[in-house]
Amino acid sequence: MTAISLVKTVQTKLLERIQKGDWVIDATLGKGQDTAFLVTAVGETGRVFGFDIQAESIDHVQQHITSSALTLYQANHADLLNYLPMSAHGRIRACMFNLGYLPGGNQHIITHTTSTLVALHAACQVLMPDGILTIIAYPGHSGGAEECRAVTEFCQQRATEEFAVEIMMSHSINPKAPVGFVLTKGKAA
Ligand SMILES: C[S@@+](CC[C@H](N)C(=O)[O-])C[C@H]1O[C@@H](n2cnc3c(N)ncnc32)[C@H](O)[C@@H]1O
Repeated sequence: MTAISLVKTVQTKLLERIQKGDWVIDATLGKGQDTAFLVTAVGETGRVFGFDIQAESIDHVQQHITSSALTLYQANHADLLNYLPMSAHGRIRACMFNLGYLPGGNQHIITHTTSTLVALHAACQVLMPDGILTIIAYPGHSGGAEECRAVTEFCQQRATEEFAVEIMMSHSINPKAPVGFVLTKGKAA
């Protein structure tokens, strides 16, 4: 499975849950491809909260996506609980993480295991019942394999009554192939 088909698979899973008017998070804005997808999915009545540590990414998204639904933060996604308005806590339908480095940008500015795990915990916390968390991890770059292992463990630990967990491994035997994770929170009782 290539990265592109993995992205499509993840997007299909997201569209099964996201409805117009929903509030969602793009935890790694990058060049804004996932952001554009989320902006379209939630429509004008929804909200998309986007995070990236790089000004380059924020500028790129601001230049290419015009939507009143979009709120951008140049911030570490590990701090997302501090940035999201209180009204968003428990109201987030979907949260996307696309880990690694900015395509075409500085390959030394990457997501790191420690802050990724803090951010994933926070994302689980703000998700609403029936919400969905997706992650794509790339074991190919320096530190990526360790991060991917940690994310796998994190997801396996969430496979409780609260979350259904799906891990999408590549069909190839290439250990550097990206891995997709989809966590869906149970419906409220
Ligand atoms: C693979 S790219 C994201 C691709 C993006 N979703 C897209 O559609 O173009 C990873 C992004 O994560 C950002 N990033 C790295 N560490 C971060 C952190 N701790 N918090 C927020 N963003 C981070 C990088 O700056 C980079 O832009």
